[in-house]
Amino acid sequence: MEAAYSLQLLGSPKRLQQYMRQLPNAVLLVDRTGMIVEVNEILLRATGFAREELIGRPFRLIVPGKGTIRQFYEQMLEKEEQNSLPVELEWRNKQGKSGTSSAMVLVQESEDTLYMVHLFQLGREQGYPLAQRFFQRLGNDNSLGFIMIDAKGDIVEINQLACRVLGVEKITVLNRNLDDVFARVPESHRLIQRDLLTGVKQQNNAMYWSNNNQRFELLVDSGTLQDASGQTVGGYILFKDITNLRSIEQKIERNERLAMIGQIAAGTAHEIRNPLTSIKGFLQMFSQLFEDIGMAREKSYTEIMLTEINRINSLVNEFLLLSKPRDVQYSMVDLNTVFEELLPIVESQGLLHGIDVKYSSRGVLPTVVGDAELLKQVFLNICKNGIEAMGNEGTIHISHHFETDSNRLSIDIHDSGPGIPPYVIDKIFDPFYTTKEEGTGLGLAVCQKIIHDIGGQIRVSSKGYGTTFHILLPYM
Ligand SMILES: Nc1ncnc2c1ncn2[C@@H]1O[C@H](COP(=O)(O)OP(=O)(O)O)[C@@H](O)[C@H]1O
Ligand SMILES: [Mg+2]
Repeated sequence: MEAAYSLQLLGSPKRLQQYMRQLPNAVLLVDRTGMIVEVNEILLRATGFAREELIGRPFRLIVPGKGTIRQFYEQMLEKEEQNSLPVELEWRNKQGKSGTSSAMVLVQESEDTLYMVHLFQLGREQGYPLAQRFFQRLGNDNSLGFIMIDAKGDIVEINQLACRVLGVEKITVLNRNLDDVFARVPESHRLIQRDLLTGVKQQNNAMYWSNNNQRFELLVDSGTLQDASGQTVGGYILFKDITNLRSIEQKIERNERLAMIGQIAAGTAHEIRNPLTSIKGFLQMFSQLFEDIGMAREKSYTEIMLTEINRINSLVNEFLLLSKPRDVQYSMVDLNTVFEELLPIVESQGLLHGIDVKYSSRGVLPTVVGDAELLKQVFLNICKNGIEAMGNEGTIHISHHFETDSNRLSIDIHDSGPGIPPYVIDKIFDPFYTTKEEGTGLGLAVCQKIIHDIGGQIRVSSKGYGTTFHILLPYM
């Protein structure tokens, strides 16, 4: 808003505004009709008004009472003469709450008379409520840390996160010198360095910091504080604790790596499978030939070679599933049918190992969108893992429940095996992670890919004894 007034003493309106801004107390400038023409920031902070809510409005908004500005001015003068300076005055904030303050009115007499109303120590009670609260809040902040030092290098302010990162109590470091506090840390490794007073600035500087029992990853900014004459009087660092962010980053990195493995697999799997097919064909010929001419030993070698080739083939097949499957047929899949076809396979495998298979979802499962063959492979893989984990006795229990809030079905496959130790559980979905001598480590990686592709999710819970895999699927 362009100011259309002037105080001769101060020349231009701009200069007047500048002057008001520099004043350490609240000021409002009022024209002879009693309307406010200018205010300063201190007044705004203390009263809670925005400038626009005051300009062009009656000064009585701030100074309650009756009478014109002229009358107000004359009453003030009278009181000043009766008492010693300054006069106490009632004022109101935006909420209409009253406070008292000492006040003085200066006047510029001309055809456009201006009254400058000074309110002293207005902030006494109400203060800078928001700014103060903000600072207090920062003091207790758990994600933003700061440390402030003076020109001597004494710590003059430090907040809670900074204390936690340093592993100290605020009371033990306040007003103590950096050299003292970081006595055992080499200068260049200190979280906050004296260097910063010489103007060595940092911005978004990622650094590690560990105290005795915790390791932090921080993003640090620093700067200096100058007084009016430009002299450096202190410095500060501000930092954000990004330890969590880093672990998300690592997860993304891992996913990217997975995607790359998938791409490589897609590119090479066929190149491996084609030559294997011809090797297999010739071996089968040899096998027949050896049999015909009665070379039993040689025939048994070819049999071994053929089983090994089959192993490579199934490995390559898993590889292919890990990459973008080519011939996926998404359709409505009745899970009841899937399990009816699957159960005999699981049961026969269980029988081999003395393991019971319980199925308690017969006939009640909903329809999902997916590829029936791939889904079968997921459930089979997970059951197989369970059977392999249990050794020679135990139970596989297949059941389900609904997660109503996310509209998903959960197929729950429980085994009574030894469970998965916490340090392993993070890695079981990684390709090639296996704890088995003959394992490929691809089973769960493939399962996860298949389920993710249809908008589902696999969760594992393994508390002490037994493991449950929850396969969550959106359903119709
Ligand atoms: N039900 C389970 N109980 C205990 N450990 C399991 C279970 N399922 C998976 N695991 C662990 O996860 C690892 C990875 O499984 P997977 O990806 O299927 O590969 P593989 O079966 O070839 O080892 C297994 O080697 C095993 O350590
Ligand atoms: Mg497996």
